[in-house]
Amino acid sequence: MVPHPVNEAAPPFEMEDLHGHLISYLRVSITDRCNERCHYCMPEEEQDWLAREEVLSYEEILRTVRVAASLGVKKVRVTGGEPLTRRNMLWFIDQLCAIDGINDVGISTNGTLLGKMTKDGRTYAQALKEAGVRSVNISLDTLNRKAYQRTTGRDLLDAAVGGIDATREATIDKIKINTVLMRNRNENDLWDLVDFAHERDLLLRFIELMPVSTTEVLEDNQFFTVNDARKLLEFRLGELSFRPDFRTNGPARYYERKNGQLIGFIGAMSDFHFCETCNKLRLTCEGKLRPCLGSHMEFDLREVLRNPKMTDADIAGFFHEVVARKPKEHDFRNAYEPGRKMIAIGG
Ligand code: GTP
Ligand code: 5AD
Ligand code: SF4
Repeated sequence: MVPHPVNEAAPPFEMEDLHGHLISYLRVSITDRCNERCHYCMPEEEQDWLAREEVLSYEEILRTVRVAASLGVKKVRVTGGEPLTRRNMLWFIDQLCAIDGINDVGISTNGTLLGKMTKDGRTYAQALKEAGVRSVNISLDTLNRKAYQRTTGRDLLDAAVGGIDATREATIDKIKINTVLMRNRNENDLWDLVDFAHERDLLLRFIELMPVSTTEVLEDNQFFTVNDARKLLEFRLGELSFRPDFRTNGPARYYERKNGQLIGFIGAMSDFHFCETCNKLRLTCEGKLRPCLGSHMEFDLREVLRNPKMTDADIAGFFHEVVARKPKEHDFRNAYEPGRKMIAIGG
């Protein structure tokens, strides 16, 4: 358990931290495994995957989400690793969508498995839609096959684009494309992605590299701010005007092109207001509850879940204790050392 007293200031049910962040969003990583090897995430071919018993079972995750829902969590985003690589994930998603109080279930995926067929002849995208998934965020850093292969370590561009098409065919209402900005890798591919998203009516977001990787990703030869990306895009697209009124649930800020297309920017490193509206907690696949992606602080919920003496009320108490320790903002600019993979934390 966390060795300090509970936050007395927190209201009895809802979770509010000491900085006024009200928690309504839980990101859940269901696996550390992935079928790609992204340059900025886990580039090494050989990975030391977690042993099966170290990873929370679906029942353990569902119990945690039920308790979180009783504390005001309304939205869950399922991440990985690549969440579609975990066995029986469709069963899990069905159960998750049925939890009282959870009214928005989303998935963040590399997209390569969304077009795959399930045993009963549906695409995974269709099955997710039928289970109740409302939003799918798909990573796509380039539309150039060679660059895709160089960035993800796999020749799976066609599968990723096929997965995007399958998701559109499944009529999932909210589909977002996530593009990580990398100088010397995809800076010349951004316009094609803008056109691709526009043609398909998808919401595109550009993301700054963050030091959540096994390698150093912030050197000048690859780090690229969202402001630089916006200026670069404006050369060809004309002025992009800030739309402070348009927000999704996460930290992206949106700009509008003259033709009405909205483009999002996630500037975790350069935007000093990035954390002000943070509304989330993260559950890692091995059962650590993390109050912030950009701080090394994490608390072992698995030991509580696996202790037969601990009740749901104990789990709720644990949540409050973790929320009481949520920092005002991330620590990426100061004390953060890379080493913990995004894959295990869940983006
Ligand atoms: P929605 O608003 O639900 O669509 O989700 P999202 O933007 O939170 O989710 P997604 O999984 O698509 O994440 C997009 C990028 O934003 C990833 O690189 C995330 O790591 C990053 N991101 C999302 N939330 C946070 C956050 O609280 N802190 C930081 N530093 N990065 C975040
Ligand atoms: N920096 C920024 N974004 C990253 N992602 C994975 N690793 C990093 C990183 N080091 C992104 C993926 C995906 C989202 C969930 O997180 O591209 O779109
Ligand atoms: Fe897999 Fe996503 Fe990490 Fe790429 S960024 S290796 S797709 S988990």
